Amino acid sequence: MVTALSILMVSSEASPYAKSGGLADVLGALPAALAALGHKVAVVIPRYQGARTAPARRVIDVLPVSLGGGIYEVGVWELQSAGVMYYFVDHPGLYDRNGLYGDQYGDFGDNHIRYGVLAKAALEIARLLFPTDIFHGHDWQAGLLPVYLKAAAAVNPVYLGSRTVMTIHNLGYLGIFPRNKMHEVSLPDSLYRPDLVEFYGSVSMLKAGLVFCDAITTVSRKYAEEIQTPEYGFRLEGLLRARSGQLTGILNGADYSRWNPAADKLLCAGYTPEDLSGKRECKAALLKEMGLPEQAIDKPLLGIVSRFASQKGFDLIAEAAWKIFAEEDVYLVALGNGESRYEDLFRRLHHAFPNKVAIWLGYNDQLAHSIEAGADMFLMPSLYEPCGLNQIYSLRYGTVPIVRATGGLDDTINGETGFKFYDYNGYALLETIRAALRAFADREAWEKMMVKGMREDFSWAPSALQYSELYRKLHPAG
Ligand code: ADP
Ligand code: GLC
Repeated sequence: MVTALSILMVSSEASPYAKSGGLADVLGALPAALAALGHKVAVVIPRYQGARTAPARRVIDVLPVSLGGGIYEVGVWELQSAGVMYYFVDHPGLYDRNGLYGDQYGDFGDNHIRYGVLAKAALEIARLLFPTDIFHGHDWQAGLLPVYLKAAAAVNPVYLGSRTVMTIHNLGYLGIFPRNKMHEVSLPDSLYRPDLVEFYGSVSMLKAGLVFCDAITTVSRKYAEEIQTPEYGFRLEGLLRARSGQLTGILNGADYSRWNPAADKLLCAGYTPEDLSGKRECKAALLKEMGLPEQAIDKPLLGIVSRFASQKGFDLIAEAAWKIFAEEDVYLVALGNGESRYEDLFRRLHHAFPNKVAIWLGYNDQLAHSIEAGADMFLMPSLYEPCGLNQIYSLRYGTVPIVRATGGLDDTINGETGFKFYDYNGYALLETIRAALRAFADREAWEKMMVKGMREDFSWAPSALQYSELYRKLHPAG
């Protein structure tokens, strides 16, 4: 039995209430895995437009949060799920918007305030509703939490025993805002120093969190090493090297209650490693739904489900795809949205190869599951990948991943379960896809590979145990 601690997570996303990517998946599953170990766990997220229908109840009508010389009056809603308390911070002016971080005009200009209020509200929730041993912040949106906690602990003994952990899910998003707005989020000018919150002439919320927290984690062992180098460090590699003694990589898990082809309600047929016949049905349904020819059922079908961001390696796909589809008998279903240049790339591919390339530009959870199940191979040639969850889901769905060996992709895929390449160029991707196509031709060997992947286990429990050990090391009661 572990010493039970009380852990308050602060995040901008949590499945199923608010999601743009894997961060939400983590916050939808890790807290329950920690609760299963005996800890008390709560998650604080904004009550966004999309979260307003969650069956939560209002527990605080008006909670005054002071920030930047003003008062933000927020409401607090709570909802218990799988032994975890989710607290929603309600402030329609800040969170009830068309988008999590921005809209068609770009990022919201007041994101520092939106997430500053969230962090401050979390401290109030800890004081009033959820006495906290460990504050655990995720990504730049929670970066101001450790800064505020230090200041609060200096005047209020209630926070004295608390410790902070920051998890980096993606170093590519630094949460930058101009120096002249520091006062809007109660940061004194004295913090504007290169060894504190200053970042190349501006302020980085992520850097602030990484400087002021007690421990740093990131979401794979390999990424923990990579971010200490200039190639992957986004100019924070010096800080991360200096804090390497407090930095650990803990691999994400997969939530197999949501991602399991044997019991996935979003699929037209279920299947297991022992009986793969349902997968063929899923493939036929996917081809039909996406308007690809029926005869493609015996041909290799590639799948992509992704945010369209340069991180995901779409520049390599731009280099390799024309040759692949011109020369090989291979098909693709791509689902995603994001940067318009990549949306255009997929539009152009679809127009050039309408019988081979099907696309869906947007966010579509149902289709994400259908692609995981219906495709033969999953493409993830990322430039960098802190962990990556889709390749882990793909393994479970018998959809063989083709990945670049970086971050969590390198840690989760091996030569028996998928195809990996190292150099970030279109040629390396092309050759790797060709190798996968050759392997696909040998049905027996291919099924062996599928089944090997399906039997891999990336459950959350072992990762939750590593977080638990870290919390215990940090906390005097642990
Ligand atoms: P990242 O967090 O960098 O986006 P991950 O692989 O960790 O990458 O997680 C991506 C998550 O988001 C997965 O659950 C995936 O299914 C989901 N996802 C990404 N894009 C879409 C989309 N367009 N529609 C539905 N789900 C998506
Ligand atoms: C980020 C990363 C992804 C990771 C996810 C959850 O969005 O890009 O690699 O799996 O966070 O940690």
